[in-house]
Amino acid sequence: MSTKIVIENLIKIYGKKHIAALKLFREGKTRDEILQSTGNVLGLADVSLEIGKGELFVIMGLSGSGKSTLVRCINRLINPTSGHIYIDGEDIAHVDEKRMREIRLKKISMVFQRFGLFPHKTVAENVGYGLKIRGVDTSHRRQKALETLEVVGLEKWADYKPTSLSGGMQQRVGLARALATDAEILLMDEAFSALDPLTRGEMQDELLRLQKELQKTIVFISHDMQEGMKLGDRIAVMKDGAIVQLGTPEDLVINPVNDYIKGFTEEVNSAQVIRVGSVISKKVSLKIGQDSISSGLKKMLNHNLQFIYVVDDQNKPIGLVKKKNLESSLKQGKEDIKTIMETDFPIVDTYTCLEDIFYLYKQGFPLAVIDEKKEFQGMVKAVDVLTSLGEPN
Ligand SMILES: Nc1ncnc2c1ncn2[C@@H]1O[C@H](COP(=O)(O)OP(=O)(O)OP(=O)(O)O)[C@@H](O)[C@H]1O
Ligand SMILES: [Mg+2]
Repeated sequence: MSTKIVIENLIKIYGKKHIAALKLFREGKTRDEILQSTGNVLGLADVSLEIGKGELFVIMGLSGSGKSTLVRCINRLINPTSGHIYIDGEDIAHVDEKRMREIRLKKISMVFQRFGLFPHKTVAENVGYGLKIRGVDTSHRRQKALETLEVVGLEKWADYKPTSLSGGMQQRVGLARALATDAEILLMDEAFSALDPLTRGEMQDELLRLQKELQKTIVFISHDMQEGMKLGDRIAVMKDGAIVQLGTPEDLVINPVNDYIKGFTEEVNSAQVIRVGSVISKKVSLKIGQDSISSGLKKMLNHNLQFIYVVDDQNKPIGLVKKKNLESSLKQGKEDIKTIMETDFPIVDTYTCLEDIFYLYKQGFPLAVIDEKKEFQGMVKAVDVLTSLGEPN
């Protein structure tokens, strides 16, 4: 994935004494100390991160932690006090207002929490509004608006006023307006927070569906860890203007760096977040053509295994054998593994969530885990799954 947005050492101080406040910050003073001596608020405290092209990047954190400040710096609704924001390699923290307007018009769209629709304009006019300020003529605007409304499933509502739509539908209009401009970057500040839980869930699914299709770079602010985990390829959790932890949903659940992060991840159903790839216990396997029943048994004893998978010469799993079958075959003088191999075994890929694999254990076999090339990555026993879910995090 190539990089779309790079943020380097971004600092935002709200207030007139920002030079003094910046000095205090560089001397190591805390946000509270800076506030006390200057009356200025440290909105962003030296934030650095990179966002990939096509990534859905989530920013989380308690109220006042600096999420909106960070996102508004990306389209310069707010000017940072110091630092860099590169979009496609161009440092937009230091371009003039004219260039910034062009960048906003071409590259960045924002979706707001309270829809931000014009009540007196029709749905189609609202969707076409972003194009209007980009100088697109009326008929093209209308055409593009209708196309985009179709994408979000609201084409029938084009000529209604937003007030005749439900909250969820209005949010879709807001989303359509952002999509209509073809901007590569979508900034979404608590875009779904005003919706009821059911509609909110639907909008999340809709966003994921659209994202698969359109591959925008999305920066999505959320208060809700469940939402963040569902949507985010990666999540940055902020506190007091700084990033406390940045990682995949799985990273945050498995290795929270401190109690602040734990406070967020505790509410989350780990089984929906942890993937099979991170609970693999044993990668050892038997290779057809190389291993015999006696060498196989030795491997199993060395690794203390009751089951072992057998792979072909391309490292693809083709069966599994039980230790007791190996032992009895050896006594009978057999050497060919294939004769005692079970070929009906459960198989999953590394990206599967733990929640989706429980039913596969009904045969009592450990699961064979494969990567995208279908190569064997290791096996996962039921006990590994339960341990990873049971550990208090
Ligand atoms: N225009 C402003 N002037 C002064 N201080 C501000 C301004 N905007 C934000 N702040 C302060 O900066 C800090 C970060 O605010 P920000 O709006 O980025 O937080 P947030 O994480 O988006 O919070 P929320 O979840 O409530 O939206 C807060 O302490 C806030 O009071
Ligand atoms: Mg905010």
